[in-house]
Amino acid sequence: MNATITAIGGFVPSYVLSNEMISKMVDTTDEWIQKRTGIEERRLATSENLSTSDLAGAAIQNLLKTYEIDPLEIDGLVLATATPDHLLTPTASKVCELSGFTNAFGFDLNGACSGFLYALEMATTMIESGRYKKVVVVGADTMSSIVDYEDRNTCILFGDGAGAVLLEKTDDEFGVMKSILRTDGSGTSALYVPAGGSKVPAGMQSILHREHFIKQEGAFVFKKAVESMSSVSQDALATNDLSVEDIDWVVPHQANLRIIKAVSEHLNIGIEKVKVNIHKYGNTTSATIPLCLWDFKNDFKEGQNILITTFGAGFSWGATCIKWGVMRALKAVQYSANGELLKHDLMYQ
Ligand code: UT7
Repeated sequence: MNATITAIGGFVPSYVLSNEMISKMVDTTDEWIQKRTGIEERRLATSENLSTSDLAGAAIQNLLKTYEIDPLEIDGLVLATATPDHLLTPTASKVCELSGFTNAFGFDLNGACSGFLYALEMATTMIESGRYKKVVVVGADTMSSIVDYEDRNTCILFGDGAGAVLLEKTDDEFGVMKSILRTDGSGTSALYVPAGGSKVPAGMQSILHREHFIKQEGAFVFKKAVESMSSVSQDALATNDLSVEDIDWVVPHQANLRIIKAVSEHLNIGIEKVKVNIHKYGNTTSATIPLCLWDFKNDFKEGQNILITTFGAGFSWGATCIKWGVMRALKAVQYSANGELLKHDLMYQ
């Protein structure tokens, strides 16, 4: 039995923060940001007062409505996030409520930028075990809630968003193959939020020293990201008996266009096969990979092999391969926001 992706949804807030706007906040330029990161703009949730549960809930609503899926069918929800609504309770409980998942359990998983891939692996093994049939995996982050908009090293990089997939069991030879996931402690102070957890609880000093915001040693993280994503991708190909020629598409974590290009060169996979949307959204942490799957879903054809690879805080990293399977039928009848009938023929992907 395999676990295959049968539906995809996504959501980004409507508020756009452009490089030009950031250059009025800190000492930087649109040219520097584009040249060093590939980012042109990012979406921000806070101006609309949205939190991570709202983003995740909206991505799931998009998935449920697009494919006309009954929320009561869902057995479980795995929410990958590094920016929960609260330290307690789990954000997944609110997302289950927003999504109408009354027959499901839900839990949060914090794997930083590797969170979605870790969550996908958890859900895959749940389905392969035969105990669960339909699990929603959502990656959602409100990075603007922990970004210091006075720090030019980090505020240019991050954005907010959410992407969701439905994993279902199949007896066909499609789906998520073997994954290789790794975590070590070598990066615990190279990319982190120093205060607000149990080690340094919130207090006047932590607020004065701006310790509730992300700190990053960018160049060190960059080097480790390229090395780790390249080598773990090679290992994932080997463990699945695939060569680079077998790969139709690469969906990498979107942290920096230069990292993505370097990994593509190391793997000897042409950049035309690598999916990139960092220019629109920046680094949305747990959401980059599902947002990329959502943006490019019409390019993925049945039987194609997709390599997914990621790297994040911790450090945490990993890669997997997916043989793309049959998607659910799209909703047959589509209406515009004001109720006008747009389509009524059956559409299949
Ligand atoms: O998703 C989790 C993993 N995260 C990542 O993978 C992020 C990895 N790191 C990066 O993407 C890059 O390291 C950055 C984009 C953060 C920085 O790019 P870089 O090419 O590594 O720059 P740098 O940190 O080595 O800094 C080079 C120069 C410095 O000036 P000096 O010391 O050479 O005079 C920085 O102060 O660029 C300066 N700089 C900036 N200049 C204009 C740093 N940030 C900016 C800025 N605008 N926003």
